[in-house]
Amino acid sequence: MKRKRLLAILVITLLSVLLCGCDDKGAEQKEYIGIISAMDNEIDILLKEATIERVDTVAGVEYHIGTLHQQPVIITRSGIGKIRASSGITTLVDNYPISKVIFTGIAGGVADEAKVLDVVVATRLLEHDYGILTNDGFKWRSGDPGYGNKDGEYYACDPQLVDLAYEASVQVVGKEHTHKGTVATGDQFVASEDYVRLLKEQHDAYACEMEGAAIAAICLNYGKPFVVIRSLSDKADGNAHDSYEDFADRAANHSSRIVLNMLDQMKSSP
Ligand code: ADE
Repeated sequence: MKRKRLLAILVITLLSVLLCGCDDKGAEQKEYIGIISAMDNEIDILLKEATIERVDTVAGVEYHIGTLHQQPVIITRSGIGKIRASSGITTLVDNYPISKVIFTGIAGGVADEAKVLDVVVATRLLEHDYGILTNDGFKWRSGDPGYGNKDGEYYACDPQLVDLAYEASVQVVGKEHTHKGTVATGDQFVASEDYVRLLKEQHDAYACEMEGAAIAAICLNYGKPFVVIRSLSDKADGNAHDSYEDFADRAANHSSRIVLNMLDQMKSSP
């Protein structure tokens, strides 16, 4: 009799774990939207508006776990450049149940039509400083095949997230200030007209920044849908530093407001 009861309890426990997708602690497995930036001003508004339940610190980087506009989110600031971005995004997607990733931040405008405070939603990204130094100068090559860049050259963003981000940006800054296109990533703050010309001619880039392709490569390897949103603080030219000083905070806020709008849209059609 005792053995029968024990067996019944065992079967019920096993079934409930199998059927309701619970984790080993019995709590239902919740998925989070990962929101990542390089700098504090790029997530300030988001953290102010969010209800944060817990902050984990991993390798010196804080992961703010909570709810934002009624969506479960984990918000983190990885730091500047491809190394810090790679480390931050790997911790995020490897340690937590993440359904999708949104990168929010600022960039330098490259395309002629991409003006300061406009927004560029990346459709694909590349590492513009990855390549070979030859006697004839630097020769760009794509990241090693298999490292996320399935088409052999560029890292493609998730088309549905790109559409969602584009619509959100149109609502926040207007259609005439919203662009979609290639974003070039490198470990340099670009402040050179000559280099901007190269990024335009060689890659048809709309914007340049310092983290996006790293986020993209890791997300593609982990099979996580992602998008990179960049609002422009400067034109990556000789005036870039001054322009950055004047417009970085406003540009960062634009990008954050686009993320909030995306979360609202996801609420109405998950
Ligand atoms: N982020 C903002 N402006 C930038 C620039 N000009 N180059 C690289 N990253 C940037």
